[in-house]
Amino acid sequence: MTIAKRQRTSKRQLGQFLTPGPIVERMLERIKLHGDMTVLEPSFGDGAFIVPLVKRFVDLRSGDISDQYAATLSQNIYGVELDARLYRRCLHRLEAELGGLPKEHNLICGNFFEHDFSGDWRWGLGGMDDRIQFDLIIGNPPFGGTFDASIEDELDRQYGERYGCKIKKETYAFFIVKCVERLKSNGRLLFICSDTLLTIPTMRGLRTFLMNQGHVEIKQLPDFSEETGYPMIILDFRRNGRSKMVVRDGRKVHRETIERTANASWGISDDLAEAFAGPTVGDFMVGSSGMTIGKNEYFVRSVKNGVIEEPYKFEYYEEPITLKGELARARLGKLSLRQQEQIRKQEQSGETRRCVRVIRRKRPRFIELPHPDYKPYNKSNAKIVYSEPDRMVYWRNEGEAVITFKKSGNWYLRGVGGQPYFEREGLTWQLISSRLKTRYLPEGYILDSGSPCGFLRPGVAHDKLFFILAWTLSPLCSRILKSVINHTMNIQSKDFERLPYPHWVNPKIKQKAISNMKELIEKARKGHEYSFNSEEILELGELFNM
Ligand SMILES: C[S@@+](CC[C@H](N)C(=O)[O-])C[C@H]1O[C@@H](n2cnc3c(N)ncnc32)[C@H](O)[C@@H]1O
Repeated sequence: MTIAKRQRTSKRQLGQFLTPGPIVERMLERIKLHGDMTVLEPSFGDGAFIVPLVKRFVDLRSGDISDQYAATLSQNIYGVELDARLYRRCLHRLEAELGGLPKEHNLICGNFFEHDFSGDWRWGLGGMDDRIQFDLIIGNPPFGGTFDASIEDELDRQYGERYGCKIKKETYAFFIVKCVERLKSNGRLLFICSDTLLTIPTMRGLRTFLMNQGHVEIKQLPDFSEETGYPMIILDFRRNGRSKMVVRDGRKVHRETIERTANASWGISDDLAEAFAGPTVGDFMVGSSGMTIGKNEYFVRSVKNGVIEEPYKFEYYEEPITLKGELARARLGKLSLRQQEQIRKQEQSGETRRCVRVIRRKRPRFIELPHPDYKPYNKSNAKIVYSEPDRMVYWRNEGEAVITFKKSGNWYLRGVGGQPYFEREGLTWQLISSRLKTRYLPEGYILDSGSPCGFLRPGVAHDKLFFILAWTLSPLCSRILKSVINHTMNIQSKDFERLPYPHWVNPKIKQKAISNMKELIEKARKGHEYSFNSEEILELGELFNM
């Protein structure tokens, strides 16, 4: 987890987006309660679900209201909320609506991952178990929240894998796993959650888990709340064993079709299934991200009329290795005992680390390009087909200054992403974008993390680069990317590899796509700019229609 994420305001850390009343009502309308049901709200906030649920249970029963209220809170309703302020607010709401809280109730102020409700002993999967299994689990689990650092590794051990697939360390994913496993057979889970569940590759494990455990229905929830711009969905799940389909907005999607996509996507539809019947782009090209320098200002220069302005010079020096220094750079400020022991030894024997000092020049140096100490830096931009390099990175001695700076910095800067692909010919695109904006990447570039790239695998014919580049510019490719592969704004190198390769295009058309693409690049290198509305790009896109 990044430091920035950890430092978010407490509201965001706890994923606190409370559910508006009309949405709660819409969800409760889907449920038929009966008097002996056990219902859990695992993160109840100020009681958006709990309060109306308690009222409904009380209404179900006849007799004295305060007896019914007491019975409901001791037998039917279970809830957990981490935030003491919201917890109290929920209790006050209940008191205001139904009177003083009965002595016995199951509303807990605590961490759902550290709490289980106990009931009667019975045989469970792992032997004797007294944890209550629920008929219904309902709510809106925290999304994008951070875990308590002291238990996050333990949580990862408990919930981080199911059916051999990784479950992403994300609050709503672990909430779903724990909740599904607390459902009775045929029990139901009704959750509002992020629509990243539908396609995002890192949620593949969670989708597989859900399909193996029961039947999934999804409904889009376009108007969740003004508090959050995140698109949300309703997950309506029944724990009744491995399922053969998922129902999305009333439309069946067969599991076979889902599993044709490498990310087990719930965004696939039957008309796109054929596209996934052949190889993927990843069979011919490898995707790679680039590096994060950590401080671009030190090393990256803008190009103006073929000249760059260099305000710095760089000097190397040796710094003693100390345990204190290493802990300050380590993830969460922690190192294993073995690592600490090793560092102590290095400290005692006086070992040092090479570092770089960045010194401002009295007057900047103006450098004409090309220059052997500078290489084009592949910063992200929204251009398609080709764009002239507008940034250079200081790359003397194979990037010695940048790499030394990263290796002596904080833990998250140490790796040099994409290094094996530096200076290779390929294609590249803008990481954060509403559609694939790909362009040709000539040889010689150093790669930045904001623009992932693709490179031909060994032995693949050179022309395939141009064919795949043309394909990625087509509307069909973007539709597949955004509806099946990953509909978020983030287009990672793995998403590129998971794209279907356009196996349906016949050899003659394929040749046409290749020569058209080469021509477009030539023109763009001479200064012509293309957009998705350019006639040539529209014509190129049509070659890929199925
Ligand atoms: C998206 S809000 C929803 C609240 C409520 N369910 C609703 O629908 O209005 C998520 C809630 O989860 C709580 N929360 C976050 N982490 C939690 C945890 N580990 N255990 C219990 N509650 C947690 C937050 O404080 C917040 O109230």
